Amino acid sequence: MHDSDLISFWDEFAREYWERKPLSVETFFSRPALSEDDLFQTLLKCCDLTHGKTEIDIRLYVEGQARSVLKFYNLLPKAADSSLEGYNRRIESELKGQEYVLIVNYLEVNNFALWAWTREFLKALYERVGMNKLGVYYAVFLGNYHKTPAGVHHDPESVFHLPVAGQKRMRVWPEEFIARNPRLKNSLQYEEFLDASTLLKSPPGGFIYWPSNAWHVSEGIGEFSESLALTFNCFKELVRQLMINMEQHYDESKYQGEVTIPFHARANEQSSLEIPEALKQAAAFIQSMSSVDYLQRLWLKMITGSNFLHVPKPQEARAINQHDLIRGSSEHPVKWLQLAGERLAVSANGHLLDLPDHSTLRALIERVNTGGELQVGQLLEACCTDGFSINDGLSFLSQLQSIRGISKALG
Ligand SMILES: [Fe+2]
Repeated sequence: MHDSDLISFWDEFAREYWERKPLSVETFFSRPALSEDDLFQTLLKCCDLTHGKTEIDIRLYVEGQARSVLKFYNLLPKAADSSLEGYNRRIESELKGQEYVLIVNYLEVNNFALWAWTREFLKALYERVGMNKLGVYYAVFLGNYHKTPAGVHHDPESVFHLPVAGQKRMRVWPEEFIARNPRLKNSLQYEEFLDASTLLKSPPGGFIYWPSNAWHVSEGIGEFSESLALTFNCFKELVRQLMINMEQHYDESKYQGEVTIPFHARANEQSSLEIPEALKQAAAFIQSMSSVDYLQRLWLKMITGSNFLHVPKPQEARAINQHDLIRGSSEHPVKWLQLAGERLAVSANGHLLDLPDHSTLRALIERVNTGGELQVGQLLEACCTDGFSINDGLSFLSQLQSIRGISKALG
């Protein structure tokens, strides 16, 4: 699509479809989100559980029944499969004709290029409709399955499905129709309701979209397909998401104690009214997760992370020396915020560095954000002031490189 066509497409999408109506577009992308081989390599990383559980969420269904991924670890993609077609051949043979679907959430954690590609897609949407509250993530669906195991269902999510191989087909109904026909809920038998539905379908290069109030069921034709669901949480309130976030950060091991708290038999004693220490500690955790300081850090990460719930892992920190040439990005600048306690929160690509505030750090960030090529020695010479050495500067640039706020220029 040409740039002018893209602008009018997004204008129309924002006006007519976002959170309103489903849509199929057969040809849209001149460059796919990722190739089949890239998806295979990414899934190998996501499905490697040899070092324990990761933040990736993996679900496997055989004949509509959930299987434990640890017990059926051999049914996940392996390097020996060579490709996703090879994986499908092996699984079809091992399952002797039973149908399966593998669903992997948050694969963007292992694919920076996919995440960076999506950032551009999201920008066009966010500029027009705002940022959904709260959180975006990818889920890949692959397999030879006919129907979603859950049947006709609904999630509080607005979804773009981007097929990678094979055709993606999804049947959707408006929520008013489901309200009048509750038998459809979670049903796999819906032939009598086909007239009220819309069949969305798209080959690779296009996409299908449905709003968060649409009830839907995947309708495969038994052929192997791979499709990426770019999923937008659509919560009308934010309390739920903050509670989920709180739970994800809760480290139970730090709050262990006795199973009882003091009990005062004589209830008229004044000491019986004192709040127990264990209760104060629990409340302190909740307070810390809703303090302005915490929320500012969280919001900074959401902005630079394009609202993704999980962002690509940082890359290995490499030493930067004074002869290196580096480059930042004016399009995706490193952002910073001065916080209480003379701290400086520095964020790029959804990651955050929490540092003691210093004017040199802010000066360095402003310089790299111009996007031009910079010689490290000259940059540090110009920016480093009292209390901030050249070595401090090299160390900071190395951390920035790890979160991809800068890259080494090729010269
Ligand atoms: Fe769904």
